Amino acid sequence: MKIVIIGTGYVGLVTGVCFAAVGNEVVCVDNNISKVKQLQEGIPTIYERGLDHFLKKNVFEKRISFTENLGEVVDSADLIFIAVGTPSKGESGETDLSYVLSVTEDIARTINHDAYVVIKSTAPVGTADKMKEKFHSVIKDLGKEDLNIFVSSNPEFLKEGTAIEDFMHPDRIVIGTDDAESKNRLSELYKIFEEDSGVPVVYTDVASAQLIKYASNAFNACKISFINSLTRYCDTVGADISDVAKGMGLDKRIGRAFLNAGIGYGGSCFPKDVASLKYEISKKTKNDTTGILSGIEDINYKAWHWIVELVESLISQNKVPAKPNVTILGLAFKPDTDDVRYSPAVNIITELSNICNIKTYDQIAMKNAEIALHKKEDEEISPNFDNITYCNYLNDAVTDADIVILCTEWDEFKCILADDIVSLMRGDIFIDGRNALDQKEMSMFFDYYCVGKPHIYKN
Ligand code: UDX
Repeated sequence: MKIVIIGTGYVGLVTGVCFAAVGNEVVCVDNNISKVKQLQEGIPTIYERGLDHFLKKNVFEKRISFTENLGEVVDSADLIFIAVGTPSKGESGETDLSYVLSVTEDIARTINHDAYVVIKSTAPVGTADKMKEKFHSVIKDLGKEDLNIFVSSNPEFLKEGTAIEDFMHPDRIVIGTDDAESKNRLSELYKIFEEDSGVPVVYTDVASAQLIKYASNAFNACKISFINSLTRYCDTVGADISDVAKGMGLDKRIGRAFLNAGIGYGGSCFPKDVASLKYEISKKTKNDTTGILSGIEDINYKAWHWIVELVESLISQNKVPAKPNVTILGLAFKPDTDDVRYSPAVNIITELSNICNIKTYDQIAMKNAEIALHKKEDEEISPNFDNITYCNYLNDAVTDADIVILCTEWDEFKCILADDIVSLMRGDIFIDGRNALDQKEMSMFFDYYCVGKPHIYKN
């Protein structure tokens, strides 16, 4: 099939490359010309495992191409996917649909037949109606009233770092349509997944499809916050959160996934989707059921803020100097990505840089973190840039540290040699924000703090 994908971010690019790989003719559109040029060369604009090879192969074999000119390609598309950003507008959680609506306007201006549009981006229920309104007002002005737009929803469930694998082997495919032709086209496109690997396809209406995406993300965020809600209690009563999660997870109704305690979730989806769902429910319904969503957010804040409070308490107990040297290992919101959006590490550095000297190291996400920290300059609590040093090597980062804090469980950190690290440090405190290291081994060399387990002090 001929597929046009608008937006070449994480979702659009991965979707485009994967649709091409299974035999479709794909054109990706982006208004960022330098991005388009880079992609035309087969060079990825994001870090995503396996993308490099996949992109080059499909560009070379001419199954995927890139352009900034939407008008050139929409007319030949069987389906037009929208994969542009749907960020939060601000504190309220309301979703900013300006990019989706601006793309809809561009489609209306340039298309000369009915448009079969699919929303891939995560967008709240009601977005399709707004797109139809925009489309019809533009075509009316242009005297093309006989044209129509059909809007479907086909949410993505891609995890950064394993996005290609998730796309090729999904748990399920969700297709939300309110018209028969869109349903035919989408089921034709996904037939190969259904037939080859027996992936279940959920056919539903547009509103339900959109809500499936929000509900799935909020529920996974809820699992993380639920386990994180027990961590301080575990510390206090001498229980081990990993064993609690293991025991809970063996109940088939619960499952073990997303029960890893730590310093909380970040990323481009969970924070904004929980906030958006909360906003939409409280706006549209009289019976306010958003308490559970507020609870998820509150616990997620407490999950990373615990690190700040722990460092403050180490200072006040004189366990470290009054302005300690603190090393932050890992800046990405999770391993195998360069994404730092809503990363707990960035929040922790912002607060701690006002009371500590910070050295930080992340092999992939450091540039993005530096940009993200500078964006926080005007916030109520802003970073003290004079106290932040970015290190290119792990050993430089830990040298002279009083406290080392692991924020992202990169493989590189999982195999650090505790005695090597401690020999470079001034102090001997290690805070493992992801329970990524071996408690017994670490406590031979460090006062080792991890999440939801009794703290072990070096003998
Ligand atoms: C998520 C959804 O999983 C995906 O379906 C959706 O399309 C986009 O959002 P992603 O943001 O890439 O994907 O990351 P994910 O692997 O889901 O992790 C999200 C966050 O939760 C990370 O910060 C991770 O560290 C944290 N997490 C995850 C935990 O703290 N504990 C866990 O047990 C699992």
